[in-house]
Amino acid sequence: RKKVTIQALQTLRHSKTPISMLTAYDYPSSLACSSSTLTDITLVGDSLAQVCLGYASTTQLTLSEMIHHARAVARGNTHPFLVADMPFGSYHTSIHDAVANAVRLVQEGRVEGVKLEGGREIVDVVQRLTNVGIPVMAHVGLLPQRHSAMSGYKVQGRSVEGAKKVVEDALALQKAGAFAIVVEAVPQELGQYVTNRLKIPTIGIGAGPHTSGQVLVYDDIMGTWSGHKAKFVRRFANLKEVRDQAVQGFGEAVREGQFPDSEAESYSMDKNEWDRFM
Ligand code: KIV
Ligand code: NA
Repeated sequence: RKKVTIQALQTLRHSKTPISMLTAYDYPSSLACSSSTLTDITLVGDSLAQVCLGYASTTQLTLSEMIHHARAVARGNTHPFLVADMPFGSYHTSIHDAVANAVRLVQEGRVEGVKLEGGREIVDVVQRLTNVGIPVMAHVGLLPQRHSAMSGYKVQGRSVEGAKKVVEDALALQKAGAFAIVVEAVPQELGQYVTNRLKIPTIGIGAGPHTSGQVLVYDDIMGTWSGHKAKFVRRFANLKEVRDQAVQGFGEAVREGQFPDSEAESYSMDKNEWDRFM
């Protein structure tokens, strides 16, 4: 498949063809995302913190760690448009810092665009990055980087005020130049409404079936994540079972002296050489 561009995403949005986005964290998961021509966007999500690095939340992930993983994902990426999350703290201290850090993600992390969580309070940063030529994907609704301030991971936009905030934030981010917007954990009615109000694609996660696209975390679709399973997650495989069976099987085969097989899995010396050696 041809390289996916922002224009191609816009075309999918207009033809109401659902956009498919998946996260990746390293070379093998990136190859997996690229293995399907149906994957439109690969996101190096800062969920990297929990599913790959064992941190308790995304706020513990540093920019250096994100760059290290983004580079590996970039090496495996083919056609999908490649985006990385800007880690917590890397775009809040000043517009100058935000530009410098986004440039590092592009130059060292080798991604094509960056994703930022937040609403109207970050439109100046979004506008500046866009002006510099770094495509920005916005992210509204549930903002995991603010789980402490928001007292946990909760569905957003359920009240009139909450729904208005999501819509106003999304409109402001579109105006600031965002090329797409992730909408996380909102009622499906709001997911549909905000999608209809915007010209740019909405990529939903827990936002119902009517957004312009859908995103899920790689480990969630693979069934390799044993932590909390959100309501919006669907497991498309149970790799944890397969993987743990392989670990168990190897351990048993070694213990029982049944691995390696002397014929199929071992090298042998030429008889003459062996006799001279002895
Ligand atoms: O970090 C992440 O994985 C994300 C997506 C799930 C939207 O932000
Ligand atoms: Na994220």
